[in-house]
Amino acid sequence: MLPQSTLEPAGRDAERIADLFWWMAAGGGLIWLAIIALSIYILHYKPGTTYSEGAARTLIVGGGVIFPTLVLAALLAYGLSLLPRVLALPADGGLVVAVTGEQWWWRVRYMLPGGETIELANELRLPVGRRIEVRLASPDVIHAFWVPSLAGKMDAIPGRINRIALEPTRTGVFRGACAEYCGASHAQMAFHVVVTEEAAFADWLTGQRRASEPPTDVWLQRGRDAFLANGCGACHTVRGTAADGVTAPDLTHVGGRVSLAAGTLDNDRGGFFRWIFDSHRYKPEARMPAFGMLPPDDLLALADYMDSLQ
Ligand code: CUA
Repeated sequence: MLPQSTLEPAGRDAERIADLFWWMAAGGGLIWLAIIALSIYILHYKPGTTYSEGAARTLIVGGGVIFPTLVLAALLAYGLSLLPRVLALPADGGLVVAVTGEQWWWRVRYMLPGGETIELANELRLPVGRRIEVRLASPDVIHAFWVPSLAGKMDAIPGRINRIALEPTRTGVFRGACAEYCGASHAQMAFHVVVTEEAAFADWLTGQRRASEPPTDVWLQRGRDAFLANGCGACHTVRGTAADGVTAPDLTHVGGRVSLAAGTLDNDRGGFFRWIFDSHRYKPEARMPAFGMLPPDDLLALADYMDSLQ
């Protein structure tokens, strides 16, 4: 199964959009065949053959006006009839995830019943078979939130909240992208939607609500100390430590995510090292400064500490 394909839908809305695509493709294909047939027919035109004016008029009016009008009207009616269902939001009281397009990553906030929120980045986890609401916003420029396997796309526009529903029909890991040019690292702004069974989703949510555990290993403590000593906590939060910055991604459980830096690096020790050492190489103009000046052992310990935040 492909992680990112509109033609292999894994969500209710993506299925409807794929159906529409196949109807349009089939309609276009039939018309193309008719044009090719007429072209072949005309190749056999013999000079001197005469056609009645009535037959010519029938061909031009029928094939040039009536036929395309009927086909396009039918496709338009079918497409419009899908819209209310594709745009339908779940009833109030369900799961709501607030997603904010940042330069260049996605802030993901689960709004839990009782007012509790948990924040992560570049990743959504969803239970299969449930229709959930995503509320899209942006603090500065326009982005577009698109998970081709699950649903259509929706813009994240500064100053307003746009809403889109996701209703996964299959479990799996699906890739999403920013579909609106938003600056230097627009193409380095991917995310993943991990769809699991309901029980696994509940377990995951319980884990995300927990703060991080203080490391007992001396090496990891060195990494944690390097994190706190070098000002990382001014921008990042790691719940369970003094780091409570809010401008950059929450890292409390960063080691457990599918990828790093919005889909640009593998989520492992090497990925963390590369990112911290030279962030701008992987994401031009990213707000995250590079920390290549740190002693190599501190960087390695820091990378291991990040990886341990599962
Ligand atoms: Cu965000 Cu393109």
